[in-house]
Amino acid sequence: MRHLIDPTDLTVEEIDLLMNRALDIIAHPAQYAESCHGKKLATLFYEPSTRTRLSFTSAMMELGGQVLGFSDARSSSVSKGETVADTVRVVSCFADIIAMRHYKEGAPRVAAAYSRIPVINAGDGGHSHPTQTLTDLLTIRRELGHFDHLTIGLCGDLKYGRTVHSLIKAMNRYAGTRFVLISPKELRLPDYMKQELERSGQPVFTEVSTLEEAMPLVDVLYMTRVQQERFADPQEYERLKDSFILDEDKMALARPDMIVLHPLPRVNEITIGVDDDPRAAYFRQVENGKFVRMALIHTLLQWKREEAEQQQHFESFVLADDSPRCPNDRCITATEPVRHLAYRDKDGILRCHYCDHAIEQ
Ligand code: NCD
Repeated sequence: MRHLIDPTDLTVEEIDLLMNRALDIIAHPAQYAESCHGKKLATLFYEPSTRTRLSFTSAMMELGGQVLGFSDARSSSVSKGETVADTVRVVSCFADIIAMRHYKEGAPRVAAAYSRIPVINAGDGGHSHPTQTLTDLLTIRRELGHFDHLTIGLCGDLKYGRTVHSLIKAMNRYAGTRFVLISPKELRLPDYMKQELERSGQPVFTEVSTLEEAMPLVDVLYMTRVQQERFADPQEYERLKDSFILDEDKMALARPDMIVLHPLPRVNEITIGVDDDPRAAYFRQVENGKFVRMALIHTLLQWKREEAEQQQHFESFVLADDSPRCPNDRCITATEPVRHLAYRDKDGILRCHYCDHAIEQ
């Protein structure tokens, strides 16, 4: 069964499929309005969230489905000490698909291992946030039209910002991507992410110490807030929180066709004066998040249905396992030691699974 825990769980082709489906949903919303009728999304949010949870909720509602879940772990059995594995086993009985946000890194991966329904990672600690990345990608696709040969500036909290980590993993698979990393030295990209970039073989990243240096270089500027909740030392947060602020003067240094993205919430890292600049795409990005989550829920449920059908198909072969041997001497079963499998066609005739030769009339 397919889950979405990390952006690289999807191939580049599957990402294209999701982008195209999201664009189709935007163009023909009525065609999808009942596509999840009778289905339930469980939103298991162990960490505060406004837009991601509401975006999932609104996505499922617009597909005609329903939503259940919790937005505060204190109101669930977690407060009684229940493990993620047990919670997910229980929720698998009540819902058709799960969106999970957790403060522990890797929690959605554990959930996927125990779940009988698809699990979507809606953000795990400072680790990963694949649906934000799909949102970012759809925005880039709609605003710039392509993913190849883009220079992406990543600014702010590159250490704890899970949206940054996921976006890097996703964009690193396209030809000619370059990253310009802009952060105070305490909030630099973790080493494991840098190693991932180095392993990819592309001459991909440079680190600069001011936004001014980066502005003329970038096609996409990805701003992030400093992640207060992940600091052990509140004084360190106070010292770093105002490190990089994007304002109209800095926007004047950028290309006319670049875009500014931000996963939101914004604290003070983009001044409100920038909001009216047509290159500020962060509120359009929010709307794209709903469409791409609609595409994702729709697709994961479709893949699950197809898998169940294939399984049934296979089981029908297994049931016919002790059927007579295929009489066709040109069939592979005549010369190789493969299992003799058969199926009944729509007219009730038993046929060989491999060559379709009738075994009995
Ligand atoms: C981000 C997140 O939760 O990681 N927000 C979001 O999903 N819209 C970014 C953040 O919290 O700073």
